[in-house]
Amino acid sequence: MDTKTLMEWSTRYHTPNYGRTPIVLVRGEGSRVWDSDGREYLDFTTGIAVTSLGHCHPVVTGAIREAAATLMHVSNIFHTAPQIHLAKLLVEHSFADRVFFCNSGAEANEAALKLARKYGKERLASDRYEVISTMNSFHGRTLATVAATGQPKYHHGFEPLPAGFKQVPYNDLRAVERAMDSHTAAILVEPIQGEGGVHVPDDDYLPGLRKLCDESGTLLIFDEIQTGMGRTGRLWGHEHAGVEPDVMTLAKALANGVPIGAMLCREHVASVLTAGSHGSTFGGTPFVTSVALATLTTVIGDKLPERAARLGRELMDGLRAMDSPLVRDVRGRGLLVGIELTKPAAPVVDACREGGLLVLSAGEKVVRLAPPLIVEPAQVQQAVGILRDALAKTAA
Ligand SMILES: Cc1ncc(COP(=O)(O)O)c(C=O)c1O
Repeated sequence: MDTKTLMEWSTRYHTPNYGRTPIVLVRGEGSRVWDSDGREYLDFTTGIAVTSLGHCHPVVTGAIREAAATLMHVSNIFHTAPQIHLAKLLVEHSFADRVFFCNSGAEANEAALKLARKYGKERLASDRYEVISTMNSFHGRTLATVAATGQPKYHHGFEPLPAGFKQVPYNDLRAVERAMDSHTAAILVEPIQGEGGVHVPDDDYLPGLRKLCDESGTLLIFDEIQTGMGRTGRLWGHEHAGVEPDVMTLAKALANGVPIGAMLCREHVASVLTAGSHGSTFGGTPFVTSVALATLTTVIGDKLPERAARLGRELMDGLRAMDSPLVRDVRGRGLLVGIELTKPAAPVVDACREGGLLVLSAGEKVVRLAPPLIVEPAQVQQAVGILRDALAKTAA
């Protein structure tokens, strides 16, 4: 099938809800992907912070093969060893005591929101159900996670949204304090806002939220769907702040591209999720948890968070040295980096692609880079060179 026909069929047969890049990707290996015309690209999108071990990592491919040939799916009415081992590994490497598995980031946040409501009602007061999240956040596309997402463009057309959500400016402790009242059950934040433009909060923000929650019994939920699994230079993004949440949500890179979500929480919170209160048919199948186990073991064993910290510094140093009039700010942590421009990001994203580098945007004016954690130093420098050329071309 030729590329032109494939793209015509894509336009004809898909619902039109994605603004797609005009290439068809057919193969990937490590930090690189190839399109249907045989063009090679450096992939600094990683499926939006998903394929952290790169494409077709042998450990992941091996785990997929073995799991597919052993046991793909059974219901959660049975125990399965890979799911138990993965939960144990996550607990051993985090603040959490308990893990619930599902299939996506939105579902992990849905689980956290439902948990917050049930915990609020049963352990705090019957009218403590409200969740405070932040403006510019992104928490998913289900109705409840859209309601928690602080970006009106994702609300538009889907009203009325579920009640019980309010948003305050990010990185503003006073605003949270003012918004908290006798109905507040939980605060939901990303340790770094990803989709919203790669915003890193001040050092006292997450500790300040922890304090406000401790004083009022409110649950602190960290959405680590984009920042987790080593991307920011620590296994969990909140480790930079030295505080722990009560609940944490994961997805994206947890199984390097095989769909999975997870909601981790402390014992006293988990106890409200009594048998039958929540569940998922596909959540934590032996297939996906085998792949996640192989992925997470590699991320930890190969010290990829440390690598992300080191290469992230090299990447940001290279970007800051570009000295382009289009660049207003370079920010981020580890290998989650944003370049805020003075103009829309889309032409720069296109020029990068033409130069052989795939990058993301975040908001209108931010180019977002999320390379795999296994990216080579030479590839980081190659990407900086392509970006420099793309910025020069766009500024001209
Ligand atoms: C911080 C954050 N939360 C939630 C989500 C939603 O995840 P999913 O698309 O897997 O539902 C995303 C996706 O980009 C995200 O970045």
